[in-house]
Amino acid sequence: MMLLREALAPMVRRQDYSAPAYRIRAVELTFDLDAAKTIVGSRLSVERDTALPVQPLRLDGEDLNLLRVLVDGQSVSFRHENGQLVIDAPAAEAFTLEIRNTIAPEKNTQLSGLYASGSGLFTQCEAEGFRRITYFLDRPDVMTVFTVTLRADKKKYPVLLSNGNLLEQGELANGKHFAKWHDPFPKPAYLFAVVAADLVAREQRVLSRSGKEHLLQVYVKRGDLDKTEHAMNSLIASMVWDEARFGLALDLERFMIVAVPDFNMGAMENKGLNLFNTKFVLANAATATDVDFDGIESVVAHEYFHNWTGNRVTCRDWFQLSLKEGLTVFRDQEFSMDMAGSPSARGVRRIGDVRVLRERQFPEDAGPMAHPVRPDAYQAIDNFYTATVYEKGSEVVRMMHTLVGREGFAAGMKLYFARHDGQAVTCDDFAQAMADANPDSALAANLELFKRWYAQAGTPRLQARGVWDAEARTWTLTLAQHNPPSPGQADKLPQLIPVALGLLKRDGTALPLQLAGEAEAGGTERVLVMTEATQSFTFVNVDAEVVPSLLRGFSAPVVLDDGLSDADLLVLLAHDTDAFNRWEAGQRLAANRIRAALAAPVEAPVVLDDAFIAAMRALLRDASLDAAFKELVLTLPSEIYLADQIEGIDPQRLHAVRESLIDQLAAALHADWAWAFEAHQVKVGYKPDAWQTGQRALANLALAMLVRHAVATGDPLWPGKAYQRFKDASNMTDRLGALEALVNAHAELAEPALARFHAQFKGEALVLDKWFMLQARAPERDGRVFARIQQLLQHPDFTLGNPNRARALLFSLTHFNPAAFHRLDAAGYAFWADKVLALDTANPQLASRYARALDRWRNLAEPYRSAAREAIARVAAKPDLSGDTHEIIQRALA
Ligand code: PHE
Ligand code: ZN
Repeated sequence: MMLLREALAPMVRRQDYSAPAYRIRAVELTFDLDAAKTIVGSRLSVERDTALPVQPLRLDGEDLNLLRVLVDGQSVSFRHENGQLVIDAPAAEAFTLEIRNTIAPEKNTQLSGLYASGSGLFTQCEAEGFRRITYFLDRPDVMTVFTVTLRADKKKYPVLLSNGNLLEQGELANGKHFAKWHDPFPKPAYLFAVVAADLVAREQRVLSRSGKEHLLQVYVKRGDLDKTEHAMNSLIASMVWDEARFGLALDLERFMIVAVPDFNMGAMENKGLNLFNTKFVLANAATATDVDFDGIESVVAHEYFHNWTGNRVTCRDWFQLSLKEGLTVFRDQEFSMDMAGSPSARGVRRIGDVRVLRERQFPEDAGPMAHPVRPDAYQAIDNFYTATVYEKGSEVVRMMHTLVGREGFAAGMKLYFARHDGQAVTCDDFAQAMADANPDSALAANLELFKRWYAQAGTPRLQARGVWDAEARTWTLTLAQHNPPSPGQADKLPQLIPVALGLLKRDGTALPLQLAGEAEAGGTERVLVMTEATQSFTFVNVDAEVVPSLLRGFSAPVVLDDGLSDADLLVLLAHDTDAFNRWEAGQRLAANRIRAALAAPVEAPVVLDDAFIAAMRALLRDASLDAAFKELVLTLPSEIYLADQIEGIDPQRLHAVRESLIDQLAAALHADWAWAFEAHQVKVGYKPDAWQTGQRALANLALAMLVRHAVATGDPLWPGKAYQRFKDASNMTDRLGALEALVNAHAELAEPALARFHAQFKGEALVLDKWFMLQARAPERDGRVFARIQQLLQHPDFTLGNPNRARALLFSLTHFNPAAFHRLDAAGYAFWADKVLALDTANPQLASRYARALDRWRNLAEPYRSAAREAIARVAAKPDLSGDTHEIIQRALA
């Protein structure tokens, strides 16, 4: 069995790359669209690369029903080999290949290729979905000009869309109609898209700086138009931003966004025709939270920015995925920061981005799926759309930005496009352009060293120790780095680490920085560039002991060990001008307390000290700070982040300790929470801007603390207030916040509130997802949450077939609720194994993502560890596991 699987999914290696022997200059596609059976006609203009030895033409294809193959109008002999269609050495150097095949969209539960969703037909081609539509050279370095004719029933599918410009449309016999599209930009097949559905569009005409007019459209199902304003505004803001910051204008007359209810990922950047998970399009104040609005803004921007970073310049092969993804995440993060405005709001965004990185990417980097930003090998490319490629990839681009500066980075982008527009290139090409545009930078001086960030997996550990020499009036910082082994990479070389820092005196004031050898002090913040395993930096004119604020803004994706005491951290929490490090100081103070409690005997009560409580109170009451920042500081580090940082974790113990600390914060700051709740009410009309979002976030946290404390003490006041607020709220953020406060505290009023919420929103799929998610993510208490999740599986609104719904219930348990999932009786693991197997038959991409919940099983304490292993082994034993899931399971057990 093992052998058969390996044969189905051979390892693909970066080193084996070779340029394509054939190119497809142009393709004319015709679709006779029908959910049961769609006929695809393809006419390819193929050219052989005459510089290479003659070899057979091998076309990719998957789940296709082939009707005919013609070369220059003549039938040819062909064969099937390893899932490819092979035509032995066609005679001519350039020829026309005609293919006809059929596909069955309504049977396509994988949601890759052409599939049915709602009453429409949609495509998803990245990474290897085009081969599920027709035979093709389905690799990103084959770029083709597409002309597409769509024919379909006019009633069922009144809207027919593909990439580029609409050439013509009209009526056909038998109630059918057609539309013909042409995309002038050569593109890889993964950027191809088709939509046939009954949709309506919000439209807007805009002018770019050059004065060109563009038509922007957001397509949704009838009835959803009132939820498209924010997506449209985000699209316009993205266009304006990319022109202003990078001089990159929209290159198409028409730019379309289409909302799809069943979608494996967030969204897809198909040229001129972005397809989106409905979750990242639809929003209004009544149905979406501030977090949803925020997600829409970044995903719309992300996909729009791909038009240049991904589409105009694409990837040579899938190992280079971070070339487009890391860079585009960096761009969307910068966009959101610029949109947020104030320095403080920027800091809040940075904290949010780092949280995501540390909760998703750090565990990945420490587990069996650890891989470099530019991986070396894969079995299923779908498995490498990871936090490492995306989020760590973005950090790598951010470090370049730090090293060359804002202007230098813009110059690097300019050179990158000047060199590579219209090409399929590599991560090296991007780094080279950045370095060449900034010849005097630390990046150019250390380019090969810097590129180890692309090659080495794992999160480097950075140790930092400072020594003050009173006599010499110097303070010497010694840095040492070490990157622990990852699968396939036992020994690693030092990496280039930009360390942004400031030095604070004990009274909190910043020290002017002067390195030994410098004529005078320059500023209070600096970036040290670490290039060796160990390195020292000496600052002069230091008259007193200082507290270093290291890795400001999280200037490198590393784990920092700076040896600071709680007293030092309290100084940073009170005074650091860097928002990230100020927040981080609070998180570390909390983490220190949690660690100490975990190390103490189980019976010992965990008591929060007055210093910590006083510091938190001071922060909460500080009138000079934004509410959004306070909410972040007053939220303890998550169980997921802590579990990653602690070896041999007992998830139940961690949960109990953390919950107990939250209880104490709720009790000790009771009056402060009551004040915070009242003081942060928004009294103007709803807008999802940074200020209002912060007010609501802090008010909701305060309410949650008040309800939690009230439930613990049997006081009915705050649960009653929360219920009232839940009923009367004028927007979803406040409504859901109040509901969450009741549910998370296991208040009695949670049940009537949940019932009311369901009744009120039963027609809104995305809101129902929230209803499932809220219940599945509630803090576990006596197994109640797990039991509720099992009940919800039977709910008439639950289905495994819709990825958003599956994520709302299943992923919420296994990926986001460690205490409900990791049970002493192993029922959570059995649940996981059952669902992996159930998902795997229908949708391998979704199943393999789900399977990753147990990636870090080796870091669990017993008996969790053995029980988790057993569940993984049960999944591994299934003989016909998909290639996607097989790769994940096999790595987990390796
Ligand atoms: N390329 C998409 C993005 O990051 C993600 C995606 C990958 C979507 C694969 C679908 C399939 O914007
Ligand atoms: Zn992307």
